[in-house]
Amino acid sequence: MKKRFGILTGGGDVPPLNAVISSAAEECEKNNCELLGFIRGWDGLLNKNYTIVKPGDIDPNTGGTALKSSRVNIARVENGPAKALASLNELNLSGLIVIGGDDTTSNSLLIDGFPQVMISKTIDNDVGIAKDKEDGTVEMINYFTLGYPTASDKIASFVSWSEGLRTTAYSHERILVVESMGLHAGWLTLSSAAGKPDFIILPEFPVDYDDLKEHVAERFLKNGHVIVVISEGAKWKDGSYISVDETNLDPFGHPKFKGAADMLASKLKTDLKNHFDTRNVNSVNPSYLYRCGAPNSVDLAAGQLLGREAVKKLSAGINGRFFEVIQHNDSGFYADYFEVNNMQSIKDFHRMVNPKLYNPASYNISDEGIKYLSKIVRFRDK
Ligand code: F6P
Repeated sequence: MKKRFGILTGGGDVPPLNAVISSAAEECEKNNCELLGFIRGWDGLLNKNYTIVKPGDIDPNTGGTALKSSRVNIARVENGPAKALASLNELNLSGLIVIGGDDTTSNSLLIDGFPQVMISKTIDNDVGIAKDKEDGTVEMINYFTLGYPTASDKIASFVSWSEGLRTTAYSHERILVVESMGLHAGWLTLSSAAGKPDFIILPEFPVDYDDLKEHVAERFLKNGHVIVVISEGAKWKDGSYISVDETNLDPFGHPKFKGAADMLASKLKTDLKNHFDTRNVNSVNPSYLYRCGAPNSVDLAAGQLLGREAVKKLSAGINGRFFEVIQHNDSGFYADYFEVNNMQSIKDFHRMVNPKLYNPASYNISDEGIKYLSKIVRFRDK
C-alpha cells in the first residue's frame, strides 16, 4: 500500500497556501505516496472530511486555500486530541503537514507520537524568533511567515506615491490614518515603511498621543499632507488598546481588533481643528485586502519550497513534530527544521517586532529594519 500523508490549512488565509499544497502533491507523486487534503483545517481531520490531492488539481498562483480554512481549537473540542489521533490512524496516515499560524500549529502540540511538519503562514509574521546578536544586529529565525511578503508589498503599495494613497493625500491636503492588521504584532505595519508613510505605530511601542499629535501637525504644516499607518492592536501610553472588542473572542481567545485608525483620525480631527482645517482627516482600513489575491514571487517560491521539502522530510521518516522554517543566507532563502516538543517551545516561537527594527522617537523604521525588510519587499522611492 502507498504511504499516505495528510495536509491541512487553518487560520486566516494567505496567498501562497495553494502553492504549498500543490507542490506537496507533486512531491508525493514523485515519492509514490498519496496526499489527503483535509477540508476546513482541523475540523476536516476530526470529521475525516478530506479529498485526495493530485498534481495539477490546484493552481499554485491562485491565492487562498482550495482546502478551506477554519479556526478550530481542538483543546476545546470534547476528546479533540484523541479524536484527531484516531482519525490519523484510521486513515492509515504516516505523517501530517499542518499549515497555520501559532494557533493552528498549537493544535499539533496536543497530538503526541505522530510525525508532523508544521509550516507557518500568517500575514502577521509573528511565528519565529527575532534574536539580538552581539554585534547589534538582529537574527531572524524563520525569516518570514508565508503570506507576509505579499501582504508587505500590498501595504507598501497602498500608501505609496506611485501606486497608492499618497496622491489623494497630496491633492486634497489630507491627513490619512491607515489601519494595518497583525493582532498584537506590528510586523505588517513595519513593512508599510517600504511605501514611505510619514509615521508608523506598532503595538510593541505604546503611543504618547500628545507627542504624536505634535509630529503630525508639524509634518502637515510643512508638507500639506500626512499618512500615518497604525496597527489594529496599537496601544496608548497607559497600555490600553486604542480600539478593541473584548466581547468578541475567537476560539483561541483573541479579541477582535478594529477601529484604531478611526479612533486616531477622529481624535486628530477634533484636536487639530484650531491649527488648520481638519475636514480632510480620514481613516482607511484595507482589512482583508492585505490577505487576498495571488502570491508574489517571494511567497510563491517559498510556498513551493516548503511544500516540497515537508513531503521529503516525512518520506524520510521522522519522529515527533518539526517546525519547517525559512532561513536566509548569502545564497538566498532555504528551508530548515526545528524540533518542537512542548507547548512552551511553541510559545517561544511567537515573536514581536524587535526594538532594533524601529525608531519610536521618529515613529518610523530603523536602518536595521530596512536591512531586514529589503530582502522581502521593494522599497519605493517615495
Ligand atoms: O491572524 C491573521 C489576521 O489576518 C490578523 O492580522 C487579523 O486580525 C485577523 O487575521 C482577522 O481575520 P478574521 O476576521 O478572519 O479573524
